[in-house]
Amino acid sequence: MANTIQTIPIKTQPEYTVFIGPGLLGRCGELIASALAPCRAAVVTDSNVAKLYLSQVEESLRLAGFAVCAHIFPAGEESKNLSTLSQVLEFLAEEQLTRSDCVVALGGGVCGDMAGFAAGCYLRGIKYVQLPTTLLSAVDSSVGGKTAVDLRHGKNLAGLFLQPSAVVCDMDCLKTLPPLERADGAAEAIKTGVLSDEGLFALFDTDDLTGDLGEIVARCIAFKGSLVERDELDNGLRRTLNLGHTAGHAIEKCSGYTVHHGHAVAAGLSIIARAAEALGWTEEPCAKRICTVLRRNCLPTGTEYSPRALAHAALADKKRRGGEIALVIPRRIGTCGMKTVSVGELESIFAAGWEEF
Ligand code: GLY
Repeated sequence: MANTIQTIPIKTQPEYTVFIGPGLLGRCGELIASALAPCRAAVVTDSNVAKLYLSQVEESLRLAGFAVCAHIFPAGEESKNLSTLSQVLEFLAEEQLTRSDCVVALGGGVCGDMAGFAAGCYLRGIKYVQLPTTLLSAVDSSVGGKTAVDLRHGKNLAGLFLQPSAVVCDMDCLKTLPPLERADGAAEAIKTGVLSDEGLFALFDTDDLTGDLGEIVARCIAFKGSLVERDELDNGLRRTLNLGHTAGHAIEKCSGYTVHHGHAVAAGLSIIARAAEALGWTEEPCAKRICTVLRRNCLPTGTEYSPRALAHAALADKKRRGGEIALVIPRRIGTCGMKTVSVGELESIFAAGWEEF
């Protein structure tokens, strides 16, 4: 195997490998075959990604001995629902996939979440692999086994945990992303830098990320993997990944999900960083640095929605436990902590961090 491929083991039960490198979609068959015996592979992808990458993925899988079928759903967050999920399940049944076969999720977060969910409930669970094609899915959703669809009442409300059998991340897909999608992924990676890795954070303090994208993806996945290995089912440590997400999810909800996830997380991260500083919860001031780096990467550092509207929207947050919610607080760049607050305090916390510097 060429030495341009980086591999990161994720030591869950069972363990799997994340492959990172250029040109990997054209080699996905051999990489997937290192994890799964050749079988029937149902590729699930969206209408945009299918045009760009489906044929090379099908060809590579066939060359490696897999028998391939493909299901294409309409691109867009609106597709991440029970109706599209049911079409994917009917497709798997129509194709008579068995328990020794697999699903191949080719696309961004919507595709990975939905195809993973379908794999987890079809025949009570078959294997799947992730081929992320966006920066956001490469640095976050393709690893860790969270799968879900949206319900009318909110995002990701129905889903299950199922670790993939392999993740193949072709860096070439990430080089050609539209600026908005790239910024979305950058927000989650900057968040990881603030959480755990000052060196990663510093990589975003430049005008051109292109040369560093492979390193950014690898550092984010290695950190996420280290948390998932210790807290696969999101009961404790893994929740630190939610830095910026309480306000972020509230912004998404208030906007009727017109604000993209990464952009909402960037604004949420800015709000909690300013609030933590104003309330004396930080070890070193870091909010200004965070906001500067977010802006440099074309991301917002504030929101039009009031602290009251955000606090109200946060009542529906999955992270709430009764009357309390655990907030992730930046202590300084590279170190964070948890602080459990009552939901009644949220409005004043958001108010403390709401004004942009
Ligand atoms: N995206 C956060 C997690 O996977 O836990």
